[in-house]
Order: sequence, then C-alpha cells, then structure tokens
Amino acid sequence: MKPKIAVVGSTNMDLIVPCVHIPRPGETVIAKGGQESPGGKGANQAVGAARAGGDVQFLTRVGDDGFGKLLLANLQQEGVSPDSILITPGVSSGLAIVMVEDSGENAIAVVPGANGCVTAEDVESHAEVIRSADILLLQLELTLEPVLAAIRIARDARVRIVVDPAPVPASFPEELLQVDVVCPNQGEASAILGAEVRTIQDARQAAWQLVRRGAKQAIITLGADGAVICDGNNVDFIAPFEVQAIDTTAAGDAFAAAFAVSWGEGKSFQEATRFGCAAGALAASRSGAQNAMPTRAEIDARLLEFVS
Ligand code: RIB
Repeated sequence: MKPKIAVVGSTNMDLIVPCVHIPRPGETVIAKGGQESPGGKGANQAVGAARAGGDVQFLTRVGDDGFGKLLLANLQQEGVSPDSILITPGVSSGLAIVMVEDSGENAIAVVPGANGCVTAEDVESHAEVIRSADILLLQLELTLEPVLAAIRIARDARVRIVVDPAPVPASFPEELLQVDVVCPNQGEASAILGAEVRTIQDARQAAWQLVRRGAKQAIITLGADGAVICDGNNVDFIAPFEVQAIDTTAAGDAFAAAFAVSWGEGKSFQEATRFGCAAGALAASRSGAQNAMPTRAEIDARLLEFVS
C-alpha cells in the first residue's frame, strides 16, 4: 500500500530566469530567457512525493487568479488530492523569481501572496488530513503559526514529522526541531546553528547538535557531496550520486519528498536517505521545480546503477 504523506506548505508560480551568472547587488544582467513553471517548496514536495509513490494530501492556498487555476490543475494532474487546496479570493497566488546561472546554482525571491493567508485555523480544520497520514512533511515558506499547528496535531496523533527548514526564518522556534527528522542543507544548518557548516566534518557535528537540540534524527544534505545523517546514536555518511547539475532549484524538495515516501514505506532511516539522495540528484540534472521531480521508476533505476 502507498504511504500516506500529508504536506502542508506553499505553492508558487516560478518565473525561471536563466542567466550566465546571478547578478551581484547593483548589477544588471541580460537573461537568456524567462519561463513560467509550477513551483513552491510545498507544492514541489507534494508532486515529488506523488511521483515517488506516495498517496499525497496537500494543504495550501492559491489565489483566484490565472496562476492559481494553472497551479491547481497541475497539482491535480500530478495525482495530488485537491481536497485541502484552498482558494483565497482577491489575492494573488505565490510567485517566485528563480534566477539560475550556468553553474546550476540559483537565487530565489518569493512573493508569498496566498501562501501568507494559510492560518493555524486552516490547519486545525483539516486536522484529519494530518491525523490520517503516515508522515507529515513541512517546509517553511508559510508563516510559522500554521506550521507549528501542524506539528502539534501530528505529535498528538503520533504521526511522524519531517521538517525541511527552508527557508530558515529570522527567529527560529525550537519547536521546529522537536520532530522526528529535520533535514537542512549546509546553508540552512549554518543559519540554525549560528556556525558555518562547510565540510563533512562540520556536517557531522551539526547533525549531532540538531539531535541535542531536540530532533530525533537529523540529515544534513550536502548537494553534490551526499549527506550526513544522525539517528541519535551514530553519525553516518551517505555517499553522493554522480550528477551533471543543470539546475539545483528543487533538488532539496525532491530529496525531502522521496525520503518521506521511502521512510513511510518502512525503509530504514539510512535507506530512505539514500533514496532521497537519488531523487535529489535526478532533480538537479533537470531544469524547473515540479517538472524536475523524478518518478519512482527513475529513482529506482538510479539506485540500481549506484549499487552495480
Ligand atoms: O525549492 C525551490 C522553490 O523555492 C521554487 O520552486 C520556488 O517557488 C521557491 O519556493
């Protein structure tokens, strides 16, 4: 049976702008193009989890504008249940300007729009979506109140909680770490811990610190360098999958989504992390966000290549 994944989070229309390099402050660069494409960390994870083999319920808000209609239609087409996708009248849908440079690195500015209208009351009135799930998957593009409300509902119902702490808010409540798994990348781990996380050794220490601060388990994703995991007893290194990075935009979302599905299927923490890393590598090898999410067959094939 497919694991039930509840995602609470953001939905954006991405305006993808490929550039030779991301402009420095005060600089203007001529972009190579511009394209609208469905994104938003929450929606990317919902689509990623559905493609990876999850039965996905997604609580989000879009506006009653043209983007909102497109985003909702796309989510439905991807097999994400529309039951808890709410429409806010008179408000624009979330919008993200995603600049991607030739190296594959990106810089993103998000206009929250309808995402900023998701409330703790929305979450409480859809509590059953969370209570009936195997895994609750969260990121931080909404305000903190609905995210914390979701954590409390899941904790009371003993639903496992995975927090991808992206983007890291200026004031980081410790409750975000009182969860089953927290999975920051290096930059996010640095921001949470207030100390640079650059090397694998730094990541090992960071994973321990996140566990000491309350997470049952921690994963530090290292992009092209793999991941470090801490299960509360040991710290382990997960080797990277080779990748020709085209666009790293939603690689972290693909990781979190695939990890959640695999862990929800009953795989070990380590196996699920490897599955997530395979998905992240595949997403980085394509451009776009939701469009870049790999299917189950693609992730399985990538894992097999790695073993053989
Ligand atoms: O994680 C990538 C996402 O961040 C993009 O799709 C963009 O919408 C921003 O939310």
